[in-house]
Amino acid sequence: MRGLLFATILSLVPALAGADGFFTLMGHGGPVKGIDVSHDGQAVLTASFDNSVGYWNGTTTAPRWLEGHEAAVNAVLFLGDGRAASAGDDFDIRLWDLRTGTSEVLTGHQGKILMLALSPDRKLLASASWDGSIGLWPLDGGAPRFLKGHQSNVNAVAFTADGQHLYSVSADGTLRLWDVATGAQKRRVLSHGFGINTLVLAEARGWLAYGAVDGGTRIIALSDDKVLADLTADRRPVLAMASSPDLDQLAIGDGQGYIMLVDTTDWSIARDFRAAQRGPIWALHYTADGGNIHAGGLDDAVFSWPVDDLDGGEKLASGERTFLNDPNVMSNGERQFQRKCSICHRLTGDTARRAGPTLEGVFGRRAGTVPDYRYSETLTGSSIIWGANTIDALFDLGPDHYIPGSKMPMQRITAAQDRRDLIEFLMTATEPTGDRP
Ligand code: HEC
Repeated sequence: MRGLLFATILSLVPALAGADGFFTLMGHGGPVKGIDVSHDGQAVLTASFDNSVGYWNGTTTAPRWLEGHEAAVNAVLFLGDGRAASAGDDFDIRLWDLRTGTSEVLTGHQGKILMLALSPDRKLLASASWDGSIGLWPLDGGAPRFLKGHQSNVNAVAFTADGQHLYSVSADGTLRLWDVATGAQKRRVLSHGFGINTLVLAEARGWLAYGAVDGGTRIIALSDDKVLADLTADRRPVLAMASSPDLDQLAIGDGQGYIMLVDTTDWSIARDFRAAQRGPIWALHYTADGGNIHAGGLDDAVFSWPVDDLDGGEKLASGERTFLNDPNVMSNGERQFQRKCSICHRLTGDTARRAGPTLEGVFGRRAGTVPDYRYSETLTGSSIIWGANTIDALFDLGPDHYIPGSKMPMQRITAAQDRRDLIEFLMTATEPTGDRP
C-alpha cells in the first residue's frame, strides 16, 4: 500500500528529478541553510535553521523529517549508500539511515560545522568547522582526525578527484591544500585578504572558484594558481556557489539576494538574477539534469527555478515572513515577538518545525510539557510554571541564567517596558485555539 502510494506521488511530481517549471519545497519552520541532491536526482536533502533535515524522496510535498540536531543545521550530504550526513551549529555530525530515519552522532568539533564533503571512494567525510579545523571522519567507524593550520573559521572543503588532497577555505582569507593521508598542509594556495566563504572545485576543467566576504569572486587555474577570471560584482558577501552537473555553468549567490549564472566556457555572465526580494542566498544546488537551480534563503522553503526561465517563478523573501512585517503597524509587544521570538516559536497550533516549542497555552503551563517537542533535560526536569513573572524573569536575566543548560539561545530584553509589552501581547496571542492535537 505504501509502495503504491509512493509510486503515485512520484509519477505526479516529477519536479524533483528535473526541469519541470518553478516549484518550492515547503514545510521547514525556519530558513534553509543547505541543500543536496541525490546522484539519481530523485531525492533532495535540506538543512534548516529549525534544527531539522528534510528528506524529499520523489515528492515535493511530504518530506521525511530527520530530527536529532540540537541547533540549526547548516550542511547536508547524500552518502550514496542509503545514508546521509548532516552537520550544524550544535557542533555535531549525524549519519542518517534514510530508510529508518535513525542517526548516529559523530562528535569532536569544538565549533559550528558549516560544510561537509565526501571523498570520491565514499570512505571519508570531511567537515569544515568554526573551531578552525577540518575533521576527517572514516565512515566505517574509525577515529576522526583534525587538520589544523587555519587561523580562523573553516567555511568549506572539497576533495580532489583522486581523494588524495583536500582544498579548504577560511575566514582567515586563505585557500589551502592538504594531504589527506598524512593530514599535513601541503601548501597555502592563496591569500585573498578577506574571509573566503565558499568554493567549487572543477578538476575536470582545471579550475577552482571561490567567493569571499568582500564580494571577491575569482576563478583560478589549478595548474598554476593564476586567476582565470574575476567575477567580483559590487555585492557582498558571496555566500553560496554551485556548478551545474556538466560544469558548463557556475551559480553564485550573495548576501543581497542575487544569483549570478556564469558560462564557464568563456566566463561570461549568462544571467544576473534577483532571486530574493531581500536577504541572503545561503544555499545553491542544481538538479541532476542541470535544468533547475534550487536556492535557500530567508524563507522556510527551497525555491527552485528552471535555469532557462528564471523569471517564470516567484522570488525568495517576497512573501510574508512575519518577522519582517512592517513594524509600524504592530504594537510594541507584537514587534518584540516578531523580531525576537517568531523565528523559533509559533504562538498557536503545534510546534510545526520550529526550533522551540509552540507557545500556545504557555500561560499557566508547566515548563517542558509540550508533547510534540523534544526539550533539553533542563526544561523537562524543571518545576517552573510559565506566567507573567517567570517569562519576565526569563528575559530579564536571560535563559543562560534563568534556565542554565537549556537549548534556548542567550538573549535578554533589557528594557522592562519591552518585557511588559511582550508579555501583554503573548497573553492574548497564545490563548489556546483548541486546534492542537
Ligand atoms: C533561536 C531560537 C529561539 C528564540 C529566538 C527564542 N526561543 Fe524560546 N525556546 C527556544 C528553544 C530551543 C526552547 C526549548 C529549550 C529547551 O528545551 O531547553 C525554548 C523555550 C522557550 C520557553 C519555554 C517553553 C516551555 O514549553 O517550557 C519559553 C516560554 C520561550 N522559549 C519563550 C520565548 C520568547 C518569549 C522568545 C522571544 C523573546 C523566545 N523564546 C525566543 C528557542 C528560541
